[in-house]
Amino acid sequence: MTLNTENPLRLLLIGAGNRGARVYGDYGLHHPHEVEFIGVAEPDPTRRARFATEHDVEPTMQTPSWNELLAMQKQADAVVICTQDQMHVEPTLAALRAGYDVLLEKPMATSAADCLALVTEAERLGRTLQICHVLRYAPFFTKLYEVVNSGVLGEVITIDHRENVSWWHMAHSFVRGNWRNQEQSAPMILAKCCHDLDILTWVMRQTVSRLGSFGSLSHYAHTHAPEHAPARCTEDCAVASECIFYAPRLYHAWPVGAAASHPARSGFFEKHDFMLHALEGGQTPESRWDRLKTSDYGRCVYHCDNDVVDHQVIAMQFERGATCTFTMHGHSDREGRTLRIDGTKATLIGDFAHAPYPQFFTLHPHGTDRVERIDISAGESGHGGGDEGVIRDFLAGLHGKPSIHQTTARASLQSHMLAFASEYSRTHGGVVVDMLKFAG
Ligand SMILES: NC(=O)c1ccc[n+]([C@@H]2O[C@H](COP(=O)([O-])OP(=O)(O)OC[C@H]3O[C@@H](n4cnc5c(N)ncnc54)[C@H](O)[C@@H]3O)[C@@H](O)[C@H]2O)c1
Repeated sequence: MTLNTENPLRLLLIGAGNRGARVYGDYGLHHPHEVEFIGVAEPDPTRRARFATEHDVEPTMQTPSWNELLAMQKQADAVVICTQDQMHVEPTLAALRAGYDVLLEKPMATSAADCLALVTEAERLGRTLQICHVLRYAPFFTKLYEVVNSGVLGEVITIDHRENVSWWHMAHSFVRGNWRNQEQSAPMILAKCCHDLDILTWVMRQTVSRLGSFGSLSHYAHTHAPEHAPARCTEDCAVASECIFYAPRLYHAWPVGAAASHPARSGFFEKHDFMLHALEGGQTPESRWDRLKTSDYGRCVYHCDNDVVDHQVIAMQFERGATCTFTMHGHSDREGRTLRIDGTKATLIGDFAHAPYPQFFTLHPHGTDRVERIDISAGESGHGGGDEGVIRDFLAGLHGKPSIHQTTARASLQSHMLAFASEYSRTHGGVVVDMLKFAG
């Protein structure tokens, strides 16, 4: 869908971090006829200035916090909110009350009560509140929805879905990084898997009636630290050569004048922009080394203050009787989701891997030897093409067009409630949760 108009829509950005600046901000830079960011709220002066320069934002529209920007008279069409998980509720309520439609990063809030408050307030005010459940817009999941609802599988009896978080992504985000501690961010089943819980109920067009969940933090803990491992990888770690989590290797960082034999200069390195962006480490290996000496990302993975799980499983029953297991873990060789759906007429096996691996389904009609392979072209943007899809859908809505995949806050409530219920079950001995009672 092309949204070119004479007058691009005008947006405010709250939180010019990785998502705000590098996903939605970059969308604006690449599609200037569709959208223009005219204001930014961001406390980090470097990020704020960088975003303001990139988007040519007037000095009066650059503020250190959302309060000042939203207190001004309304001058944009909508607001994009990309602050951290614990900081979604207040700016969203303020933006809605200031008359703005809002595109809000997931999770919409970190408690059931706050999620409900957001949905209720958006509906009371008649404003759009759309949550960035980007996977609904990824061609892989769009196709999955189409196939399952075409009836080719017959009645879906059971689903086995996995979110395989790679060991390096786990270390970066959930052991060292922003989502390591659930008091400061959110339980991992909410932060990472509300997408999956959304996709499962969306594809099935059914709610979940009950669930139970187990999981824990097994590996990334002090008890697994190698003997004499220092608090930071940069402090002459004796196991640097063999530890896959050795930060200088992950972030391609080494000290000035380091010999070619320096442990950071050999072995695994895959460049991931979001990791380097989070490190804010500069352009050279030497400047990144300096950042690792002080930032969270230089810490030994066994000596962090992380408490989120590194594996969790949920067993669910849908309202019409189908069952589903969902496994999330942070020990995968590669990043991505895998799934298997067994229906009365056929089986579907899918691999939603991240580039450079291919994304595809195979369909296995029962009673035949036929295997039909469907390859998916994921597109350039993040989350298998979902990142561009969600903002495009939001912009289309502002133009009065109906949303393609309906990621309204009301629709997103279900995935969030399932995450809260799973966490309740996991922390209460795996008790079975009746979703009707839980969601009230
Ligand atoms: N949809 C997805 O698939 C997806 C993927 C990754 C992250 N996320 C979510 O996106 C959100 C942002 O993640 P991120 O990686 O960009 O984080 P980030 O830390 O890079 O960015 C958050 C920014 O908010 C700024 N901020 C803090 N207080 C503020 C205030 N008072 N006013 C304005 N800005 C303020 C911070 O300085 C920071 O720059 C999180 O909720 C995260 O869970 C969603």
